[in-house]
Amino acid sequence: MLGRQLNAVIKAVAGRVMNGMKRVFSGVQPTGSIHIGNYLGALGQFVELQEDNECLYCIVDMHAVTTPKDPKELRKNTLDVAALYLAVGIDPKKSTIFVQSEVPGHAELAWALMCNAYMGELSRMTQFKDKGRGGESTSAGLFSYPVLMASDILLYDTDIVPVGGDQKQHIELCRDIAARVNNRYGGVFKVPEGRFLRTGARIMSLDDPLSKMSKSAVNPLSSISLLDDGPKIRKAVMRATTDSGGEIRFDAENKPGISNLLNIYSAFSGASVAEIEKKYRGAGYGTFKNELAAVVTEALTPIRTRFKEIRESGVLKEILRDGAERANEISEKTLKRVKERLGLGIA
Ligand code: TYM
Repeated sequence: MLGRQLNAVIKAVAGRVMNGMKRVFSGVQPTGSIHIGNYLGALGQFVELQEDNECLYCIVDMHAVTTPKDPKELRKNTLDVAALYLAVGIDPKKSTIFVQSEVPGHAELAWALMCNAYMGELSRMTQFKDKGRGGESTSAGLFSYPVLMASDILLYDTDIVPVGGDQKQHIELCRDIAARVNNRYGGVFKVPEGRFLRTGARIMSLDDPLSKMSKSAVNPLSSISLLDDGPKIRKAVMRATTDSGGEIRFDAENKPGISNLLNIYSAFSGASVAEIEKKYRGAGYGTFKNELAAVVTEALTPIRTRFKEIRESGVLKEILRDGAERANEISEKTLKRVKERLGLGIA
C-alpha cells in the first residue's frame, strides 16, 4: 500500500525530474513597501533560480489579511508587488506569477494541514511571539499563518523555497507537518528545502542594526524601499546608525551597524566583504556611506523605472490570470492526491 502511494508521488514529479528541473516556490506579502531586505534575501534569488528551475512566485494576499487591511490599498499593493516581481527581472515566460487568493487550493489544503498541526508548535513560532500577539483578540488566522504558508509550499510539490533567514522556523514547521502527514497517511508530500543566502539572508534595520529591516517599521529612514529615489537613499544611508570607532571592518557583534552596511554593499556590488574592507582601509564612515549610497542608487534606479512602465502598461492582470491558471492546474493534482489519501470526499 505504502509502496503504491509512494509510486504515485514519484510519478507525479517524474516529468520534472526527468527534465532535471526542480520546482521552486516562494511568496511575498503585499503589505507596505518592498525593501532591499526583501530584495537581497528573497527576490534576487527568485530571479537567479528561474534560469534552471520551474518557478512559481506568489503574492500572498491571504497572509496579508491575517491582520485587518484596507481593501483598496490591499488590491493596489498586490498589483505593486506583481509589478515589482517583473521589474526586478522575474520573467513571466520563465516563471509562474500569481496571486494566492486566485487559487482556491491554498485555503483548501491549509485546512487539511491545520488538522495535522499542533497548537504547541504554532505557539512557539517566534514571529508570532515577536509581534506580541496571543491575546484574546488575536485572529485565528494570524495564529495559523505558518500553516497557510506550509500549504502554499506543499501544494506544488516544491523542492526549494528561497527565503530570507527570518522564515527559517516557518520552513522547518512546513517540513515537520509534511513529514507527519506522510507518516500518518503514506507518502503524500514532497518535503521541501529552504534556500537562504549568506550575505542577504538578514538585512538589518538602518536605525537599529539589532532588529531586521521591516516593512512595518515606523521610521521611513530605517529601510530603503526598492522604489526610493537617489536623495531618499542617500539620506537613509548617511543617517544609518554606526558605532563610534571609525574603522570600516566587519564585526557583527561589536560593530553591527557598519557590518550591516558592508553586507548591503557586498550584496549590491558583487564584491566580497574582504575586498570592500580593503578598499576603505583608512577611509572614514562618510566616504564609505557616500559611495554605498551611490552603489544602491545605481542598482535600484532601473528597477524603479521598469516598475513605473509596467504599472502603467496594463499587462499585469493578464499575466496574473495566466499564472493562476497554471498554478490551479498543478494544485488540483496535489489536492486530488491529498483527498484520496485522507479519505476526503467520494472517489
Ligand atoms: P515577507 O513578505 O515578510 O517577506 C518577503 C521575503 O523577504 C524576506 N525578508 C528579508 N530577507 C532579508 N532581510 C530582511 N530584513 C528581510 N525581511 C524580509 C523574507 O524572508 C521573505 O523571503 N511568510 C512570508 C511570505 C510567505 C511565503 C510563503 C514565503 C507566505 N507563504 C511560502 C515562502 C513560501 C513573509 O511574510 O514574507
